[in-house]
Amino acid sequence: MKLTIIGTGYVGLVTGACFAEVGHQVVCVDNDAAKVKLLQEGGIPIYEPGLEELVKGNVAAGRLNFTTSTTEGVEKSDVIFIAVPTPPMADGSVDLSFIEKVAREIASAMTGYKIVVDKSTVPVRTGDKVTETIKRYCKARVEFDVVSNPEFLREGFAVEDLMKPDRIVIGVRSQRPVAAMKEIYAPFQAPVVVTDINSAELIKHASNSFLALKISYINALSIICDATGANVQEVANGMGMDARIGRRFLDASLGFGGSCFPKDLSAFIKIAEQMGYEFGLLKEVQRINAEQMNRFVKKIIDTLWVLKDKKIGVLGLAFKQNTDDVRMSPAIELCQRLQKEGAILRVHDPKAMEKSKALLKDVTYVDDMNEVAEGCDALVITTEWDEFKKLDLERVRKALSHPILFDGRNLFDRTEMERLGFIYKSIGR
Ligand code: UGA
Repeated sequence: MKLTIIGTGYVGLVTGACFAEVGHQVVCVDNDAAKVKLLQEGGIPIYEPGLEELVKGNVAAGRLNFTTSTTEGVEKSDVIFIAVPTPPMADGSVDLSFIEKVAREIASAMTGYKIVVDKSTVPVRTGDKVTETIKRYCKARVEFDVVSNPEFLREGFAVEDLMKPDRIVIGVRSQRPVAAMKEIYAPFQAPVVVTDINSAELIKHASNSFLALKISYINALSIICDATGANVQEVANGMGMDARIGRRFLDASLGFGGSCFPKDLSAFIKIAEQMGYEFGLLKEVQRINAEQMNRFVKKIIDTLWVLKDKKIGVLGLAFKQNTDDVRMSPAIELCQRLQKEGAILRVHDPKAMEKSKALLKDVTYVDDMNEVAEGCDALVITTEWDEFKKLDLERVRKALSHPILFDGRNLFDRTEMERLGFIYKSIGR
């Protein structure tokens, strides 16, 4: 099928590349000319496993094209996906100005029936607004359908999640666009859920908030485990074996971050407020997440006492593994908190060092993870990169001036670390 994706961020670019990979003819539109040029030349602006090969292969095969012109994108396809950012505003509500602008642009370029699909994460009832906007701005009386098709990919696993989705959600007002939507997704062989538009929009915010709730739940339990000597990983394993609960997203940590959970939680709380409901449960999820970071910082201060002029090594800057994304990264927040206390930092991340440089100044960026600990009073692990499990622990212990390791991701076995001579402090174990 001929498909257009407007916006080449994480969602738009990965969606476009995966659609092309399964044989669709795809045009990706972005108003950033430099980015479009880079993509046309086979460059990738983000690190995402498997994406570069996919983009290069499909550009070479002629199935994936990039342009800055929305008009061209609308002319070339019958189905137009909107995948532009929906950033948070100061009060936590969602800035929908990019969606509104794109809806206007699509409207003025439409000359015949189009299916306009929203993939960006938006508040419930945005579909109605997009429909009204297109009606208002289209030149002639052209027919169209607005569809809500939220995306559930995780950064770092985006290609895998998109190629093998758990479900495809399609929110529609009429049956007319359903067959085309099902045809687009047929190659992915996933269960399709067809709902009304409002329900589809809610499924996205409800899912992300529930996943964040799971993490805050296990993080709250980690406090009880710390206080009692129980092991939070064993508790999570035992809980997770109940199919009604499930083990995934029960890894205690120094808190969740990224460009989705914090933003979507605030947005969902605000949406509920606008509907007259105070979503106290989700406010508690936010509170626990903030407290988890505070407790981790306190753990470091309680052990090292005064941080001023202490040298601390930090492993991890990305908000999670397999990505170079540092937006709302707990790792960056931790570094900034340590710097505020006067600590001198040596930091490393396998992919996120370049992007960190704008946020994290006056630190030493170290290329080799095994050299970060050199001359440090302590080492802190902040991101769950698999690479870190392969640290040369003997070398790290010798490099540290005091063998203290704070593990904010529970990557190592406590007994083994103590046997190796570390003073090892993790989360809830
Ligand atoms: C999240 C959702 O998982 C996706 O389904 C959704 O499509 C995406 O938001 C979005 O709305 O675009 P993402 O933010 O990429 O995906 O990353 P996650 O894997 O969900 O991790 C989020 C944060 O939670 C990270 O900081 C991660 O380290 C943390 N986390 C995750 C934990 O602390 N513990 C866990 O058990 C799992």
